[in-house]
Amino acid sequence: MGKHVNITIDGRNILADEGRNLVDVATENGFFIPSLCYFENIDPPLGTCRTCTCKINGKFTPACTEKVREGLAVEVNSAELKDMRKGIVEMMFAEGNHICPSCEKSGNCDLQHMGYELGIAISRFPHLFKNRLIDYGAKRMVMEHNRCIKCLRCVVEVENDDGKKVFSYQNRGNETHVGVDYEEEKKLTRDQAIQAMNICPTGAIIVRGESVGKPFGERKFDEDSIRPDYVKPVKSDNNIDLSNVEKKRVATVSLAGCFGCHMSMLDVDTEILDLVELITFDKSPLTDFKKFTQRCDVGIIEGSVCNEENVETLRTFREQCDLLVAVGECAIWGGLPSLRNTIPLGECLEEAFLNCVTNEQGNTTIPYHKHLPKMLDRIYECREVVKIDYFIPGCPPDAQHIWKAVKNLLWNENYSILYSEFKYD
Ligand code: SF4
Ligand code: SF4
Ligand code: FES
Repeated sequence: MGKHVNITIDGRNILADEGRNLVDVATENGFFIPSLCYFENIDPPLGTCRTCTCKINGKFTPACTEKVREGLAVEVNSAELKDMRKGIVEMMFAEGNHICPSCEKSGNCDLQHMGYELGIAISRFPHLFKNRLIDYGAKRMVMEHNRCIKCLRCVVEVENDDGKKVFSYQNRGNETHVGVDYEEEKKLTRDQAIQAMNICPTGAIIVRGESVGKPFGERKFDEDSIRPDYVKPVKSDNNIDLSNVEKKRVATVSLAGCFGCHMSMLDVDTEILDLVELITFDKSPLTDFKKFTQRCDVGIIEGSVCNEENVETLRTFREQCDLLVAVGECAIWGGLPSLRNTIPLGECLEEAFLNCVTNEQGNTTIPYHKHLPKMLDRIYECREVVKIDYFIPGCPPDAQHIWKAVKNLLWNENYSILYSEFKYD
């Protein structure tokens, strides 16, 4: 057994074996330090993602590259550090195109899971919408460059039986991407290829035919948090004493979305009966009121902003509602409609109306009429147009989740969300 040393984590004295990895020691002692590039077999650790940044002996340092030694003083849970780590993961989501609902790794993805663990609902950084190519050239794998966080795990860890590397970094700076050596990749056994897919903490490496391994509910991150300090919430009592409740006025709208969030809201089932006792719907597709009849307590926004009418509607909602809640991924960051952000508007319209194989032959015009709202140059997230007060992520968010959050906003009612309830993929 190695020598024991004394360290402190957030002021607590801990006796640990000298030389052990700090992330492991912290986890065993109930402190959650998020990590992404850190991987059990890789020694020395890569230290590429910085998700594990802590204050170690007064300096911001990645914890995974730190070995435990006498006198180490580690700060993990200050508000500044939590926000810094959250910002790092937000940056990863903003830098790549992460469309979790259509990603094969959803539910098994370390990056997605880290987003949930850190409570990320939006990214404070604008999404770059890079148009990276997908590499279909390898025999067993597809390399989805849009999802790679350049952690280096695959480059360091994956090799064939001849000891030859399969992946390598190519290009530099923001253009760096992971290249696949097709010849060496061919020599991997199927199990080795699957191992490579599992080494990747995102959905960048997908083995053909192995994409959706498990059904919902049985995937790696479906039910439980990896955080030792995660306290399971107790389900709150959903019954409000109606006698003391002042009726509130709610408006809803679907901008550029699929109406899925509204459909989800209707899934509150029998609680819809409570709803009509508690809420009056004003302007909403549920009532078909075209204009506000009076000021509302809450406006619920589904969908992103794709045309000038959406801008006007959103501005009216901001003027007429005390609180605005963006519900669902499209309203929060653009969601699926924002996939067109990588294509110039002109090309997008030409493809849809002139070149598409299902179009009428000989059509030479892109429809335009003064009464049609003008398309914007790209899709905008709602908060780029007006101030949004709250965000309920999901695609769509679970009906109970929306209902609990809205009740909390309207009547300040305590509520708790089970871990499994805030997983929407
Ligand atoms: S790689 Fe992970 S975070 Fe990215 S789209 Fe896929 S599931 Fe979402
Ligand atoms: S492909 Fe996956 S394992 Fe490789 S660098 Fe990108 S994110 Fe990391
Ligand atoms: S987990 Fe420590 S730098 Fe990535």
